[in-house]
Amino acid sequence: MHKRLPHKVALVTGAAQGIGRAIAGRFAAEGAIVGVLDIKAENAEKAAQSIRDEGGQAVAFSGDVARRETIADAVQALETQFGRFDILVNNAIWVRYNTIDAITPEILQRMVGTGFNSVVWGIQVAAPAMARSGGGSIINIASAAGFLGIPSAMIYCGVKAGVLGLTRSSAVELGKDKIRVNAIAPGSIVTEGVSINVDENMRAKRIARTPMGRLGQVEDIAAAACFLASDESSFVTGESMLVDGGVTHAFS
Ligand SMILES: NC(=O)c1ccc[n+]([C@@H]2O[C@H](COP(=O)([O-])OP(=O)(O)OC[C@H]3O[C@@H](n4cnc5c(N)ncnc54)[C@H](O)[C@@H]3O)[C@@H](O)[C@H]2O)c1
Repeated sequence: MHKRLPHKVALVTGAAQGIGRAIAGRFAAEGAIVGVLDIKAENAEKAAQSIRDEGGQAVAFSGDVARRETIADAVQALETQFGRFDILVNNAIWVRYNTIDAITPEILQRMVGTGFNSVVWGIQVAAPAMARSGGGSIINIASAAGFLGIPSAMIYCGVKAGVLGLTRSSAVELGKDKIRVNAIAPGSIVTEGVSINVDENMRAKRIARTPMGRLGQVEDIAAAACFLASDESSFVTGESMLVDGGVTHAFS
């Protein structure tokens, strides 16, 4: 089979489960060496091992993405071990939905730290390593919520809208180094994390509103990430790609 990411070196944050795990697995299947970074060390190692069991190349890293050093250490370790660094997927976030009155300083700090600050640090530490490798692709996992006003999700909507802004600005600044920066904005995707926040009733309503008539699967996001990571998207940068079955554009 023709592989789309041969010899590329990638890091995916929040890759122990859900969308991040699917992206890491797809990248490895496409020939990339993948760093699997997660705050849960044991789960990161398990995910990396399962990718290796499937015949891919994967290395586990652990730490909190809200801390600059976590991503910097992983990028440096990959570049040192494999001689290059090509792809970063900023995917990890810690999420809780609350009405405005129930937001606490701890919830605000944790969501902004994991969902926004981590993207800033990721872009900052990846860019020099990618420039040394002749270019690269940064993919920020935003959300359809970044375009919308969802009640009880003020911080989430704000963080994800912020990620779209980080994507556009960094794409313009880093183009000179042949570094592309794009965002994927998923709609409702079936993952472990989402099931904590979305009940059956909300789920049924979402399916009813979605033109494609289903929730998304992690493979839908992995496919978009593969396109944005590969040279097939070499003229695409600063873009935010909705992968949502059409629901964001549906008026009802
Ligand atoms: N699932 C959806 O419906 C959906 C929709 C839109 C956007 N997204 C976005 O996709 C991304 C992944 O979502 P998911 O549903 O797969 O999430 P998930 O909760 O299933 O997985 C998130 C992973 O990130 C890790 N993580 C959490 N905090 C971390 C930290 N501080 N440092 C390092 N790792 C940390 C978790 O341990 C977990 O493995 C998120 O950015 C989310 O906002 C998801």
